[in-house]
Amino acid sequence: MQCICCPTRLEKYGVEGDDTVNFPKDFKWGTATASYQIEGAAHEDGRGESIWDRFSRTPGKVLNGHTGDVACNHYHLYKEDVAIMKELGVDSYRFSIAWPRIYPNGTGQINRKGLDFYKRLVEELLEKGIEPAATLYHWDLPQALEDKGGWLKRDTARYFQDYAAAMFRELGDTVKQWITLNEPWCSAFLGYGNGVHAPGKSDFNSHLHAAHHLLLAHGLALQAYRELNLKSEVGITLNLAPQYPASDSAQDQAAARKADGFQNRWYLDPLFRGFYPQDMPEFLAAVAPVIQPGDFDLISGAVDFLGINYYSRSVVRSDGQGGYEALPPQGPVTHMGWEVYPQGLYDLLVRVHEDYGPIPLYITENGAAYPDQVEQGRVHDPERTAYLQQHFAQATKLIEAGVPLKGFYVWSLLDNFEWAFGYERRFGIVYVDFETQERIIKDSGRWYQSFLKGLARG
Ligand code: FCB
Repeated sequence: MQCICCPTRLEKYGVEGDDTVNFPKDFKWGTATASYQIEGAAHEDGRGESIWDRFSRTPGKVLNGHTGDVACNHYHLYKEDVAIMKELGVDSYRFSIAWPRIYPNGTGQINRKGLDFYKRLVEELLEKGIEPAATLYHWDLPQALEDKGGWLKRDTARYFQDYAAAMFRELGDTVKQWITLNEPWCSAFLGYGNGVHAPGKSDFNSHLHAAHHLLLAHGLALQAYRELNLKSEVGITLNLAPQYPASDSAQDQAAARKADGFQNRWYLDPLFRGFYPQDMPEFLAAVAPVIQPGDFDLISGAVDFLGINYYSRSVVRSDGQGGYEALPPQGPVTHMGWEVYPQGLYDLLVRVHEDYGPIPLYITENGAAYPDQVEQGRVHDPERTAYLQQHFAQATKLIEAGVPLKGFYVWSLLDNFEWAFGYERRFGIVYVDFETQERIIKDSGRWYQSFLKGLARG
């Protein structure tokens, strides 16, 4: 079957009963990582302290007291890691830039040594024929800015604009895709709402101030990007999760709508419609004090794409008091306890496409944690392979349905520092021995490699 939207590539690959894989010629296949999760070298070449350095040192915040001090030592082993990507055959690599490597105090003079690392990385990628895709903020805020109030303060958005503009000037079109923020919901809610992530603050109402300043930071960075007339693409990545009602009852439907407002629409609406969801009065009241005229014009500036990180879904029901509660997972779960629900990826992207217009979409993260072990030099992870197969199959369906899906990044290239879970959750398609820093391509990585080999390269 050949679809009209993507006439250039038609290959067969066995994916769960559907043996047709139909991807456009320029579809980007990649892997993703983030600076604090893999780089290590926390005190080298002038890098400043980030909120994750501080948070991971605070007793009780991260499992086993793990920190990102060494992580995968990618700062020193990046050439080896790029060589692995080359071996896998990916088109693109999504990494993030650590703001405190560039501006150790968040603002001021560029730390050239920090910047040089990313220049070397980008050069290495381009030399190997892999497109660099850079995220400017994947949660490692300079601690010096947090000391001034962090994302609760409007100034932080301005500092972010300066940092973003400097990166656009320095790296420009060598980076093919720029992503301003990764998952502002997590930065705002987990960081300032319930405190399970850095900086560990917990106040529901003020987390909405953080969310607004993050969105503003995105808008300001976008403005700086457009002024430079670059030829690469710019967008933002959101973590979206479909919220299904537990039943057809009006109460459960309303509950699902609320959950969707909190998790999804609170970010999608301002970005693509220019205002917050009007059916969330408590949220609107809480955020009102920090909104200034012109903010939504910046926030809703045109992006070239939307990145979506998809891992799982929620099924929610009414709690009987106007609120909602999530049901326990309804099917198999990963080591994170997240339900494996590939259909959710399809439902979610169709919905985003229908509700928010024909914006190009990338799946900027998708993957699964399982407790892998090395057996005679191999890592057998059939569950992760199955997870990827099933989600790739949904991507096929999306393209066939006419959704403008442009690429798919597997999370993650490497096992890494999984935030509050430290090194106790392995998401890599490449195993990392954190004692020796040895890398072993897992069976899932080998599967991805053969999948990519099987695709016709236009
Ligand atoms: C996402 C994060 C990423 C990783 C995955 C498992 O929310 O963006 O850094 O931790 O979850």
